Amino acid sequence: MCDYTQAALTCSHLLQNGAPDEYFKASNIIILLMLHITREEGTMSQLLIIIQLFFAVVIGMYFLNMLRSQQGSKIAVEKESKKEMEKLQRMRGIHLTKPLSEVTRPSDFREIIGQKNGIRALRAAICSPNPQHVIIYGPPGVGKTAAARLILEDAKRMFNSPFRQDAKFVEVDATTVRFDERGIADPLIGSVHDPIYQGAGAMGIAGIPQPKMGAVTKAHGGILFIDEIGELHPIQMNKLLKILEDRTVFLESAYYSSDDTNIPFHIHDIFQNGLPADFRLIGATTRDPESIPPALRSRCLEIYFKPLIPDEIKVVTRNALRKISFESEEGVFDLIGKYATNGREAVNIIQTAVGVNINENRDKVTVSDIEWVINNGQYSPRPERKIYNEPQIGYVNGLAVYGPNMGTLMEIEATAINVRRGTGRLIVTGIAEEEELRSRDGRTIKRKSMAKASVDNVITVIKKFFGIDTSEYDIHLNFPGGTPVDGPSAGVTIAVAIYSAITNSYIDNKIAMTGEISIRGKIKAVGGIIPKVEAAIHAGVKKVLIPENNWQEIFKTFDIEVIRMSNIVEAINLATVRQSDVKTMITPQPAETNILTAASICGTPAIQAMGDKNIPL
Ligand SMILES: Nc1ncnc2c1ncn2[C@@H]1O[C@H](COP(=O)(O)OP(=O)(O)OP(=O)(O)O)[C@@H](O)[C@H]1O
Ligand SMILES: [Mg+2]
Repeated sequence: MCDYTQAALTCSHLLQNGAPDEYFKASNIIILLMLHITREEGTMSQLLIIIQLFFAVVIGMYFLNMLRSQQGSKIAVEKESKKEMEKLQRMRGIHLTKPLSEVTRPSDFREIIGQKNGIRALRAAICSPNPQHVIIYGPPGVGKTAAARLILEDAKRMFNSPFRQDAKFVEVDATTVRFDERGIADPLIGSVHDPIYQGAGAMGIAGIPQPKMGAVTKAHGGILFIDEIGELHPIQMNKLLKILEDRTVFLESAYYSSDDTNIPFHIHDIFQNGLPADFRLIGATTRDPESIPPALRSRCLEIYFKPLIPDEIKVVTRNALRKISFESEEGVFDLIGKYATNGREAVNIIQTAVGVNINENRDKVTVSDIEWVINNGQYSPRPERKIYNEPQIGYVNGLAVYGPNMGTLMEIEATAINVRRGTGRLIVTGIAEEEELRSRDGRTIKRKSMAKASVDNVITVIKKFFGIDTSEYDIHLNFPGGTPVDGPSAGVTIAVAIYSAITNSYIDNKIAMTGEISIRGKIKAVGGIIPKVEAAIHAGVKKVLIPENNWQEIFKTFDIEVIRMSNIVEAINLATVRQSDVKTMITPQPAETNILTAASICGTPAIQAMGDKNIPL
């Protein structure tokens, strides 16, 4: 019996150590012991008792060991977590003051300057019993994000708004929600954490796929704001469109089986019925509407934020300075208005100037502080083009867009010198004659620039409609001042400038125009019409000629006369002024041969076809 006790103690010791080979040794001893007992005592009942005892001890020890190792690792994790928690709390105890840019950020719609129409449209879309999805277009730093951040709170104040008081505003930046084509992590749409991944936890070990919510679900019941929405990957954009339709996100996993009873009920529910994603989208972009997929555009109300004019920049700067309780010298705001092209730039300039003041123990921003910031930051003055005081020959005010929603006055000048028939040349300066287009597959196509092509169209129109043989003239067409001319929308302006130069007719300095011209003399619609008309207003233009098809009722509310035209003859009729109306006469170039007369021009078949008999010369 003493041998039995000894053997039992050895077994117990081996089992306590818990290593697999020790279990093996212990079981060998037990088997020997059992054989020994059977031989010595020969009783079956004793053997059974010992076997029972053995298994009880083995199982007991096994669970004891497991419990011990679990407790050991739990204590280690707890210790580690406590240390990390202390570190986190120490970090949370450290606070800097708010950055000036945050202090000066608009906290009320009244503080967003110059975007009355944009905010009105945004309110109409969101603060309603049936809010709509929205895309806000506009140049950088004009208040798009600032307005989007305020709109949800505004909507919640409405009694019949579907947004509850706890509705969330979820903000993501399309440039940071990179598309993951394996679909392992998709912070925008959501993803499924499949059990094969490390760290899949208890559910992963049990072979259960775990759905993870994306921003579209986090924004459920509220607003999802996607800044720079134009940067979204096309596949993400398509997924987003589907969600806007379904208001639910459906996730998929190869590891999901609807028959698997191991999978918890809520995960079955998510795979079968989807995750809720009923939100309203506000996208903001600095891109042109044309570069946003039409499918997304058609589902959203499109809102345009406009560039800020110097007077608005002055108000933004004044408000920012007031918010940080700082004084300024006279002339500071005017100077910032001349240089800052948007609200963010204005606020940055004033913040740097305030920083300089604080460092030098001063409390009043001076003009020379601003000059220093401007020189140091290498800011260039805003391109501010103004119209001439008097009608001119061969000089026409065109209109161009040079960025999202940014319009500008575009000068076009032309001279025409009468030469021997057939020797006339056409010189075009100030635009690219050829442009390179790079396709997605890396191929490069060279083609005549759109602006150059539109000059060629104009020459055809001039020949056809006015019976002018352009080979009798050396025509020089110039686009001064590096104005961006990247499309065909300068067609009508070019035609009027060349016509004016050849016929020595004066063009109204208070008129500006835009429109593409077809070789049949028709004027076709162009893009960016609103910023173009606004640019005309700021340049001091009194009448703006636009293609018939670009007409919008809103023009009736503009502080300018907007006139529709449908063909080149109408454009010339509207743009030319009588010589008697010109106060300071500029001696016209002597036109030598083939002088055009009203009769000769009006008599051309093309003009008769257009039914216009009133072409002034
Ligand atoms: N119209 C404005 N009125 C008042 N402050 C403005 C205005 N526009 C810009 N600001 C100032 O510039 C900061 C940046 O503006 P915001 O982030 O709204 O620009 P954004 O249009 O979203 O530009 P981006 O396209 O670069 O994101 C604002 O916090 C505010 O201080
Ligand atoms: Mg923004």
